[in-house]
Amino acid sequence: MEYDKSAASGESEAAAYPHDTDHVGGRGGKLRIQGPRVDVSVLNEPLTFPFSGRTAKNRFLKAPMTERLCRWNEEGQDINARGYPTDEYKLLYQRWGEGEIGVIVAGNLMLRYDAVEAFGNPILQDDHDNRTEAFRQVADVTKKNGSLFIAQLSHPGRQGSAALNPNPVSASDIQLKISWAGNEFAQPRSLTIPEIHSIVKMWGETASLCHKSGFDGIQVHCAHGYLLAQFLSPTTNKRTDAYAGPLANRSRIIFEIIAEIKRRVPDPTFILCVNLNSVEFQPGGQTPQDCAALCLKLEEAEVDFVDLSGGTFEGRAFEHKKESTRARESYFIEFAELVRPLLTKTKVYVTGGLRTANGMVSALTSGACDGVGIGRPLAADPFLCREILAGRVWGAMENLVPLPLNTQSSGTQLHQVGRGDGEGISDWSDRVEVERWVLANKVEEERKKGVLPMVDSSGFPVLRAEAGFQYLR
Ligand SMILES: Cc1cc2nc3c(=O)[nH]c(=O)nc-3n(C[C@H](O)[C@H](O)[C@H](O)COP(=O)(O)O)c2cc1C
Repeated sequence: MEYDKSAASGESEAAAYPHDTDHVGGRGGKLRIQGPRVDVSVLNEPLTFPFSGRTAKNRFLKAPMTERLCRWNEEGQDINARGYPTDEYKLLYQRWGEGEIGVIVAGNLMLRYDAVEAFGNPILQDDHDNRTEAFRQVADVTKKNGSLFIAQLSHPGRQGSAALNPNPVSASDIQLKISWAGNEFAQPRSLTIPEIHSIVKMWGETASLCHKSGFDGIQVHCAHGYLLAQFLSPTTNKRTDAYAGPLANRSRIIFEIIAEIKRRVPDPTFILCVNLNSVEFQPGGQTPQDCAALCLKLEEAEVDFVDLSGGTFEGRAFEHKKESTRARESYFIEFAELVRPLLTKTKVYVTGGLRTANGMVSALTSGACDGVGIGRPLAADPFLCREILAGRVWGAMENLVPLPLNTQSSGTQLHQVGRGDGEGISDWSDRVEVERWVLANKVEEERKKGVLPMVDSSGFPVLRAEAGFQYLR
């Protein structure tokens, strides 16, 4: 999704990390990024959120990763069959729930059947088929060992594939003119003011269904170029009304949504958090100063935590842009350092790039953040946090997949965990396994293009692991 617009080339992300593994040619495999053995106790400290009063049992956060594992409508079937949780979706979350992760944020959960990020997205528009009960079962297994479970609510705006979103809406009529993983993006039209009001209401309705389903809270997705980021960014918000111009106006919809969620879910212990771009890495885009100003306002609006991230489909961010952050692993740590001292209550997580216990501990002890978000490494190894806390491993699995393909390759791993049929999870530190996957991805991409405008798969290539973890057996 967001970061991988280029073709199947480029460095692997492993190339960005200093590591002293015993890679000596051959197929590699079973290799972790190495870091010094450090005292990890700070990662195990609880964190209490200021407004909900809820406490995360440790400092880890599983970053939202679109799973694309929910049931979808068949050809000719009504689209409101979409988005119903499957056993695979549930098993994936059960595994993370077993993984000693303080906060587990579920990936892109959509508000509407016809405004989706991808085939397979979870959707909570209504409860016509008693799906809140199915989501409740997912929540129960995820929370069984004390993790907090948060739904990331999302609206794609202009950034959903044209085949699934032929008539998108956005802050204004600026089209996303790229092609990515076989997806094109249709020309959007600007939302009218009454439509903005109805979108705000949708957020409240879905939040209330999430509450009923047993989620502990909501993350309002304001990052990575989706609808709310389209309002925030001057590159996509060319409106001339009360939702345009200065940051206070560009962010108006976000604060309306927060107020609406609080109104629809009056439970004071329901967690409200936001993920936000610290920077957009594109000319005229959202700046770190915008991000800092927004965080101050989010604190006033009683948001429990912000998770800082960055980039859009157009300006990829999940790689190191500077030597100074490369050394510290986290891509956005310097932005977190700007923001955290400004906040007295709202907690700060930073997500992206953290790969070793040492990097995570340093991010916390340097004072840059209160918690660490982890994405791809938890697709490769759902128990990474548990293993780090137990002092059994000191770093994430290496990842030799070319960086531009990482969303797809991690997606394959998510599906392998969800299938849970004893095949294990592909090991991307194994060169042969990576080659098998790159080929499978090429084939799937071509096949997918060939059936357009029909969309019949998540786009995450199916691969049965030949080399990888068998520990889910
Ligand atoms: C397979 C995959 C799916 C993702 N889906 C989402 C998503 O649904 N929502 C979101 O905000 N970010 C999403 N991301 C971005 C991650 O949350 C995270 O910010 C990114 O992977 C960088 O963190 P990492 O370096 O620890 O992987 C996704 C990333 C991957 C790899």
